[in-house]
Amino acid sequence: MTRIETKNMRLHIVALIYCFKIVRGTELGQEVLRGPQSDLSDIIAPSRSYNGLNQHPPMGWNNWNAFGCEVSEEMLISTAQTIADYGLRDLGYEYIMMDDCWSIGRNLTGYLVPDPERFPNGIRHLADRLHAMGFKFGMYSSAGTLTCALYAGSLGFETEDAAFFAENHVDYLKYDNCYNNGLQGTPELSFNRYDTMSKALLATGRPIVYALCQWGTDYVWQWSQPISNSARMSGDIYDSFNRPDPGCITPDDAPSALALYKCSVMSILNTMATVQSMSRSGWFNDMDMLEVGNGGMDDNEYVTHFSMWAMLSSPLLISTDIVSISPADLSILSNPSVIALSQDPSPRAGSRIWKNECQDKDQFGLCDHQLWTRTMANGDKVIALINGGNGPATLTASLNDIFTDELTSGTYRLSRQYIEQKWDVYDLWANRMSVDDANVILNGSEASTVKSNVWYNSTELPYAEGLQINHPALLGGYVGEIEPHGKWAAEVARHGVGLYRLRKRGG
Ligand code: GLA
Repeated sequence: MTRIETKNMRLHIVALIYCFKIVRGTELGQEVLRGPQSDLSDIIAPSRSYNGLNQHPPMGWNNWNAFGCEVSEEMLISTAQTIADYGLRDLGYEYIMMDDCWSIGRNLTGYLVPDPERFPNGIRHLADRLHAMGFKFGMYSSAGTLTCALYAGSLGFETEDAAFFAENHVDYLKYDNCYNNGLQGTPELSFNRYDTMSKALLATGRPIVYALCQWGTDYVWQWSQPISNSARMSGDIYDSFNRPDPGCITPDDAPSALALYKCSVMSILNTMATVQSMSRSGWFNDMDMLEVGNGGMDDNEYVTHFSMWAMLSSPLLISTDIVSISPADLSILSNPSVIALSQDPSPRAGSRIWKNECQDKDQFGLCDHQLWTRTMANGDKVIALINGGNGPATLTASLNDIFTDELTSGTYRLSRQYIEQKWDVYDLWANRMSVDDANVILNGSEASTVKSNVWYNSTELPYAEGLQINHPALLGGYVGEIEPHGKWAAEVARHGVGLYRLRKRGG
């Protein structure tokens, strides 16, 4: 053997050892990071939040969108009672949250003073009553000298206010961004301001979910995971599907801009497409409260709104007058197979695969079709086909589209199994509660009298367990199959969504 041949041989041996190590390392990594039925997206290690809370997107009710400053003990308790009566608490809506306008200022020792007329028995009494009814209790303040509605804010009083919230048995703090004394405009300024309250809450020793309401400014999704449980990623929602408004400045326009409001459902969704990857168990992008029930959108639009908030793991906070809710709106908020997306054992947000401009423009000159997908913990794939056009449209997604993330993730050969597979398709809106059933509930009958493939009790059977046993209420209705290398075509109504759970045949 010549010297060159010997050297080549040595190189071959080194290369072989190296390859073996890589292969073995990958296999070991898969064993550790991937559950038995999971897929490539599980290579992202599961995260836990900085305080161990909020492992799943929070669900509940907040007064702001429907009532603004009208808050009182009486109103919160009677709403909570109605939420329980309509079966919504047992579907998972467990937080009752009071937004802005609840105080009359500070006392001489620097502590916030609740409005005695609205809260004659004090806040702790209210919290304890809600807890006794099986709810958790949320409150609001601002990382500024004033709140957005000009009440006392917490800037400079973080220790006192965190102590106030803990002493009053608060479980969740929404922390706003108004009147921040100019302490915004860079990630560092914002981080420091929000971190002060984060530390103060931790120091109380009470578990309190910490929800930033920073309107998507200063790239909040990039730095707030180590100090909080969620962050608003856009300006305030308003009750419109896609009406453009100059008040809604998206982070793309100006990352540090203030005065973000009047953001439509589609505007928020389009922003989410760029930040969704930051959402994970313990920290979620907050797409703002739900508008379902407030009357500004039609039924298809509210269905799309609710579906996408669940698909993208946003907090699901009802914000309408529950007492006068219509049967149709109750049936949207009560769809357990959609809520099961939000409460999946592996919470993360869906991602957008494509957005295509279309011809059928609406009154704002807008028309696009979108495909979003998400992999669930049990290996199911969920797809959402959105029709942003002005009339019904047939939207088609091929298995190649649906598994784009897997096909482009660098393990092409591994991923082909998805495309060469037969998939059963379940429509997640197929078993929507009928208006008659919803009326039965609204007229005072127990929600549990409604058929078991339509209604669900997560207090008795948590979503993770229901999914494990394939509870009929969580799977939607079977509507067909996709052949290997095939595609799924759906007729989708104007501003509507086709929302489907795909399950491997025999899997
Ligand atoms: C800001 C928030 C809203 C609401 C109001 C209350 O606008 O973004 O969600 O809390 O303040 O004043």
